[in-house]
Amino acid sequence: MAKIIAGVGTSHTPAIGAAIDLGKTKEPYWAPLFKGYEPAKQWMAETKPDVVIMVYNDHVNAFDFKIIPTFGLGCGDEFKIADEGWGARPVPSVQGYPELASHMIQSLVLDEFDMTIVNEMQVDHGLTTPMSLMFGQPKEWPCRVIPLAVNVIQYPAATGHRCFMLGKAIRRAVETWNEDLKVVIFGTGGMSHQIQGPRAGLVNREFDTNFLDGLSKDPDRLAKIPPLEYLREAGAEAIELVMWLIMRGALGEKAREVYRFYHIPASSTAVGTIILESES
Ligand SMILES: [Fe+2]
Repeated sequence: MAKIIAGVGTSHTPAIGAAIDLGKTKEPYWAPLFKGYEPAKQWMAETKPDVVIMVYNDHVNAFDFKIIPTFGLGCGDEFKIADEGWGARPVPSVQGYPELASHMIQSLVLDEFDMTIVNEMQVDHGLTTPMSLMFGQPKEWPCRVIPLAVNVIQYPAATGHRCFMLGKAIRRAVETWNEDLKVVIFGTGGMSHQIQGPRAGLVNREFDTNFLDGLSKDPDRLAKIPPLEYLREAGAEAIELVMWLIMRGALGEKAREVYRFYHIPASSTAVGTIILESES
């Protein structure tokens, strides 16, 4: 049986990927951030998942404003890296798992989640930055990746509660796949940040700390945060944090926090990461 054994929450700030690609990780500005990710990377090297489910959002690279799926599951066998205006990042393409992804689609739709089937798309920094942070710079990624692109760009995004429930349904879907697989699910984006308007640069450490605490100890509380509260308290782009609730929902009732790191700033965002191992 396939099993979701752990979840990773992490920011996906594009400047982090650029810092890696340009060899700046040891510069004074970046060094503390990458040092903080070292134990997380080590955990991943020891955990060796067979499959990663990457919950992230596209930033108008795969989907322009013609079609915006609320929940788009990548069912293709390969996802190429998007050119976001500076050339594609020099990282490997992502190998998918069409059979498992198709099974997930079937299970999720029958579970009353209206998923969009995405057979072909390019993936941007929302996916590649977390991959680089957790797997380093290999020639090929060491596991297959099923991307789950969530709309948090165009209002209205799904609520945190809906995302939490989707995570629970993803757990049921994976557990009915009859193959022994270790699956790690990522929730990416956030933490507090706003990149435009008069409040650009907003960061709220207290909100972020409460959010990390809640993931660990009381996710039901987090699932009740209304969308406006993310925007008001943690900045317009902090709505990305609802994606972390998909990850948390997929871990089952009990999860043990094994690592946490928080850092301000990277570009104009607060950066956080958390690793939770499922105990359910
Ligand atoms: Fe983002």
